Amino acid sequence: MALKRVGILTGGGDCSGLNAVIRAVTRAAIIGHNATVVGIVGGFEGLISGQTEELTVKSTRDILTLGGTILGTTNKGNPFEFRELAADGSITVSDQSDRAVEVYKKMGLDCLFVVGGEGTLEIGYRFFKKGISVIGIPKTIDNDLDKTDYTFGYQTAVEVASDALDRLQTTGRSHQRVMILEVMGRTAGWIALESGIAGGAHIILIPEIPYNIDRVVEKIQLRAKGGSPFSIIMVAEGAKEEGGDVITQASASTRLQGVPQLGGVGQYLADQIKKRVDLEVRCTVLGHIQRGGSPCAFDRVLGTRLGSFAVQAAAEGKFGAMVALHTPQMVLVPLSELAGKVRTVPVDSQLIQCAESIGISMGR
Ligand code: F6P
Repeated sequence: MALKRVGILTGGGDCSGLNAVIRAVTRAAIIGHNATVVGIVGGFEGLISGQTEELTVKSTRDILTLGGTILGTTNKGNPFEFRELAADGSITVSDQSDRAVEVYKKMGLDCLFVVGGEGTLEIGYRFFKKGISVIGIPKTIDNDLDKTDYTFGYQTAVEVASDALDRLQTTGRSHQRVMILEVMGRTAGWIALESGIAGGAHIILIPEIPYNIDRVVEKIQLRAKGGSPFSIIMVAEGAKEEGGDVITQASASTRLQGVPQLGGVGQYLADQIKKRVDLEVRCTVLGHIQRGGSPCAFDRVLGTRLGSFAVQAAAEGKFGAMVALHTPQMVLVPLSELAGKVRTVPVDSQLIQCAESIGISMGR
């Protein structure tokens, strides 16, 4: 089918490569179909407010390497449970999805490209069931989306985290310290595991394998006895001790979304280690540095392929699906197959076996 007018929004937390997708969708829709491309501003909130900007080949010219999203995003704007903070501090929750569908209809769009992670794509699927012609495009640094080999943004985050580890290696070795790096990933340990291997971590702690502090300390002491009191620990924000809980922080995001903000396990671990070994321990939290900046080449290519394939799928009328990488092909996966599924690191995976086979402790 000929595409005349298409919309695109970016939802959830940002990551590197979003602009590569926006550029690819815009160029493929204009070059292939002479379509008008409507950028919806601020994620799903833009679908409620109707705030848009037209995207053109010219306006997306220099954004391939730009971090973030030129359309803006939010991880707090679910129209089905729209939370608003009143002046008195109270929160009202209402279903604004009908209003969003009305706004979509008024925009006169043939389809809507929804770029996001698991939460955003689930909202996209709910809108598909309400009649919007949705095509999902998978994004997240966490790489925890099912049914695609990789999400864009992930490889860039791994590059950033392994670069940070390289830097901690040199300062840690100079001072003979235990250096801890806390990285993101929610309930999935992909970033910690792959960047930990890439950066030569001695201990990697991921949410999928609750750690035993005695095993962690044993590894540090073993290294110290072998003449190296310096150790590098990579810990995922969602990691937890055996029998313990994830560590979270109170935040505005918690109040607005009801989603706990992870963070703090690195310092918790540092305090645990300090009580048990007579070594200096330091913790670095990498935080949103993993989400910002220019995408690596892999994410530029992946984002471009996903955007281009999404336009092709729209032209074929294949809505209610997510474009995905099943190496080496791009494929379509029904959004219904994704619902509520998060892909974590299988504890019996070859990647974990590989790490342990070369002496990395997984804290068990
Ligand atoms: O899902 C992406 C992610 O960066 C997670 O790794 C992290 O837990 C969360 O978002 C942080 O969210 P916020 O930007 O609200 O702090």
